[in-house]
Amino acid sequence: MAKNSNAFEEEYGLSEHQKGKEMKGLGKNIDHMDVEPGILYFGTPVVLISSLGRDGKVNLSPMSSAWALGHCVVLGLAMNGKTYENLEATRELTLNFPDRSMWESVESLAQLTGKNPVPPSKAGRYSFESDKFNVANLTAVESDIVHPPLVGECPIQMEATVQHIYALSEDNLGAAIVEVSVVKIHADKDIALDMNHIDPLKWKPLIYSFRHYFSLGEQLGKTFKSET
Ligand SMILES: Cc1cc2nc3c(=O)[nH]c(=O)nc-3n(C[C@H](O)[C@H](O)[C@H](O)COP(=O)(O)O)c2cc1C
Repeated sequence: MAKNSNAFEEEYGLSEHQKGKEMKGLGKNIDHMDVEPGILYFGTPVVLISSLGRDGKVNLSPMSSAWALGHCVVLGLAMNGKTYENLEATRELTLNFPDRSMWESVESLAQLTGKNPVPPSKAGRYSFESDKFNVANLTAVESDIVHPPLVGECPIQMEATVQHIYALSEDNLGAAIVEVSVVKIHADKDIALDMNHIDPLKWKPLIYSFRHYFSLGEQLGKTFKSET
């Protein structure tokens, strides 16, 4: 929620002219209307996370609240899920990035949980499934470093370990931020340009935007730092 103007000024010590509302000469935002979408999923890649419970059983779940900086990847995960439980307990995972051809396989997992019994917050809408690889018709492949398997069909696969788990300040969401460190990366030979570069013209990620699946359109350009 937006802070009221006085509290904002007290907290951040902004002078009058730095406060957007008092700035002179600003245009009016007339082409926009106020909206209140229930979710703010503005378009991020789908990731299939594989993880293990303390009993050694594998779980596989789609998620999309993820971003990367260097070799750190940050995940937003609901705490009522099996994936969260597993990451807290065994602290290893694989991040598997499906391409555009795999959306139906991903969606076949959407109403499943590895939690048994199904948590009350998911009752009636989700069901327990112990073998999600089988349901999604995906192949579990051995990882090099961590114990959870990779998803063979995903063109980009990462092995990772949990570094930190942070509580979200909006704790009514029942979600947490899980920071993971990528320790090994595998790329399908068809999309790897060489040892150090993925070919962005060939890699077609599956994008989840406001609860619909998309992929990328044509290339528009590239940044000055691009090496390819
Ligand atoms: C495309 C897609 C994206 C999702 N993104 C997230 C996410 O970012 N974080 C999350 O906690 N759940 C996400 N979910 C929901 C979980 O997949 C769902 O809660 C699932 O039951 C979790 O399974 P688990 O309990 O076995 O871990 C997503 C689901 C789909 C289909």
